[in-house]
Amino acid sequence: MNPFSLKNKTIMITGASSGIGEATAIACDQQGATLLLLGRNEERLNGTLDKLSNRKHRILAIDLTEFEELPEQLSVFLKDELIIDGIVHAAGITSTYPFRLFKPEQLDHILKVNVQTAFYLTKLVLPKLNKQASSLVFISSIMASVGEVAKTMYAMSKGAVSAGAKSLAIEYASRNVRVNTIAPGIVNTPMTANATYKTNENLLAETLAKYPLGFGEPEDVAYSCVFLLSDASKWITGTEIVIDGGYSAK
Ligand SMILES: NC(=O)c1ccc[n+]([C@@H]2O[C@H](COP(=O)([O-])OP(=O)(O)OC[C@H]3O[C@@H](n4cnc5c(N)ncnc54)[C@H](OP(=O)(O)O)[C@@H]3O)[C@@H](O)[C@H]2O)c1
Repeated sequence: MNPFSLKNKTIMITGASSGIGEATAIACDQQGATLLLLGRNEERLNGTLDKLSNRKHRILAIDLTEFEELPEQLSVFLKDELIIDGIVHAAGITSTYPFRLFKPEQLDHILKVNVQTAFYLTKLVLPKLNKQASSLVFISSIMASVGEVAKTMYAMSKGAVSAGAKSLAIEYASRNVRVNTIAPGIVNTPMTANATYKTNENLLAETLAKYPLGFGEPEDVAYSCVFLLSDASKWITGTEIVIDGGYSAK
């Protein structure tokens, strides 16, 4: 018996076309899960699919911010009899803006993508969750609890994800739904490929010096997703796993 196995589990992953979501798809596939992979870009979703072994996985190319179309598109995608054992919400965007450039519409946009899509999708999928046990994993960020220059709007969005997930965990514990967040520090993905600190040698050295174990790789986050989705974490809910190579320990 392997408590970390995802055999016989159906897992939905958003942001599966890139970075952490793609790595999570690969790790879940290795543990035997059947996957429902969501992302905007169909070509990149197919690229993820090509890296997986199980042929039962399915993809849905969808912009999760299109709230009016989401219920219909999902109900077509999720067949009536389908039972979902877990969701990983990895879809998200970042923003790096000095606060003097703050604009309400930019805050609206990042809250829409990072917060509303994840919680609205959760609401729509709730009736499909396995009534015996299910697990929801929201990818938040270390920025939800630690400050950085020019990250006010992004931090607000991730703070909302981490706080919302806690209350959701309490509200749905009686229905055997576990809800947890993961708070990564800097992970090498397409999201961070063009970050300011990667364009300047001194800035890169300065940023790396804040990371005792260096920057993370997508699989460092993916393996914790597997843990939170698996029965090995069956007594864990309402909490956050920090994965930041020691960044916040200083
Ligand atoms: N990388 C880091 O250092 C880091 C650190 C802490 C937290 N995080 C969080 O981890 C999550 C994944 O980040 P990542 O680094 O893997 O980023 P990424 O490589 O840029 O991937 C982002 C994913 O989100 C999807 N997405 C974005 N907007 C969407 C929308 N409106 N509808 C549907 N899908 C959408 C993208 O789909 P398409 O490819 O189809 O556009 C892509 O699959 C994000 O929530 C991010 O905030 C990342």
